Amino acid sequence: MAIIQFPKGMKWGTATASYQIEGATNEDGRGISIWDTFSKTPGRVVNGDNGDIACDSYHRYEEDVELMKELGIDVYRFSVAWPRIFPNGTGEVNQKGLDYYHRLVDKLLENGIEPMCTLYHWDLPQALQDNGGWNNRETIDAFVNYAELMFKEFDGKIKHWLTLNEPWCISFLSNYIGVHAPGNEDLQLATQISHHLLVAHGRTVKKFREIGIEGQIGFAPNTTWLEPYSTRQEDIDACNREIGWYIEWFMDPVFKGTYPKFMLDWFKKKGVELEIQDGDMEDIHQPVDFLGINYYTGHIARYKENEGLLDWELVEMNYDRTDIGWPIFPEGFYNVLMRIKDSYGDIPIYITENGSCYNDEPENGRVRDSGRIHYLQQHLTALSRAIASGVNVKGYITWSLMDNFEWAEGYTMRFGIVHVNYRTLERTKKDSYYWYKQTIANNWFEK
Ligand code: NOJ
Repeated sequence: MAIIQFPKGMKWGTATASYQIEGATNEDGRGISIWDTFSKTPGRVVNGDNGDIACDSYHRYEEDVELMKELGIDVYRFSVAWPRIFPNGTGEVNQKGLDYYHRLVDKLLENGIEPMCTLYHWDLPQALQDNGGWNNRETIDAFVNYAELMFKEFDGKIKHWLTLNEPWCISFLSNYIGVHAPGNEDLQLATQISHHLLVAHGRTVKKFREIGIEGQIGFAPNTTWLEPYSTRQEDIDACNREIGWYIEWFMDPVFKGTYPKFMLDWFKKKGVELEIQDGDMEDIHQPVDFLGINYYTGHIARYKENEGLLDWELVEMNYDRTDIGWPIFPEGFYNVLMRIKDSYGDIPIYITENGSCYNDEPENGRVRDSGRIHYLQQHLTALSRAIASGVNVKGYITWSLMDNFEWAEGYTMRFGIVHVNYRTLERTKKDSYYWYKQTIANNWFEK
């Protein structure tokens, strides 16, 4: 038995995102997003699922906040659906959309829960996509404009802001690998989009400072870890490229004002020509107040010539895997945090997502998701190790408060600590919910 203790003042939370939980896609003047379009395109999402109803949080948010209150969290990370605020991405504001987020935020504050707001968790207004989406620099202006409105509207109420969730997914997963909306498969396009996202992020941070909003702002890149199969330099370099694609590609510009040369060279070799306009790098290179880190999985890998984009292959080690098939690799979590500390110093970090997919169903009213509890214990142990090594961790926010629309996997993959019955919309607290509640109350756990 060992006790894993967390520092005093550690903030605990849960996360969700608008399209994954809200439903009510056709209500109160919400515009269409690229995820409405994509999920209704045959063959894109498992079982043809879509977010029309999802968890119906748009109507059940009060019940959801009650669940959070009982859980005892300090922070709730949610996202705003841009097309609820600007149905066409820009132009006319939809007051009813703003009203919904006021109701949600007020309810959180009444219950002593701090709102942490993600401005972009993937539901781009379709009208902007029709105009080129993130490949069109006008989308950058539209985003800054939307962010400014949100800052002014919620100044004093929301004190933690994130510009972008997982820019790697927005650019490469959605426009090169093509499994997320809008579903393009074009490396040049995806890489250019990654740059535009960073410019949008930086200009939004600039705007936040200019108008003097109270609070803190950051962004939430996704990370992964590949451990080299051997000590051969080519294996080490291959793993570095994959990690670098997630970490340095997005963090170097923000923290250092330059793209990492090893990745720029690699993209160039693959025929990518990145267009960077005057002033872009300065705009991107804005000090942020904190960094959000999303981490789920890692693996062992080695060099393989001409394999995929980055010339590497996974080595099957027969890891334990979660129900979505991702290896459980908590040491990667520690390594990611140490790599970030070594490269960028003591920037305050919130773990903005970490969690696991287990598809356990209720039996006599109880969901025995022991796999999820085990995963949480392993990753929180890795986190406490990182804290002991000096990583400046301010909080841990688990994904997710409840089962929800898991993008291309539809409703087949469950990440919640609360079970959602998608037919009745009934919520059932899982064993992991009670375990997390106890951990939050104690600020430690025993394993
Ligand atoms: C990352 C994303 O931000 C979130 O939307 C998703 O559901 C989880 N990871 C699990 O895949």
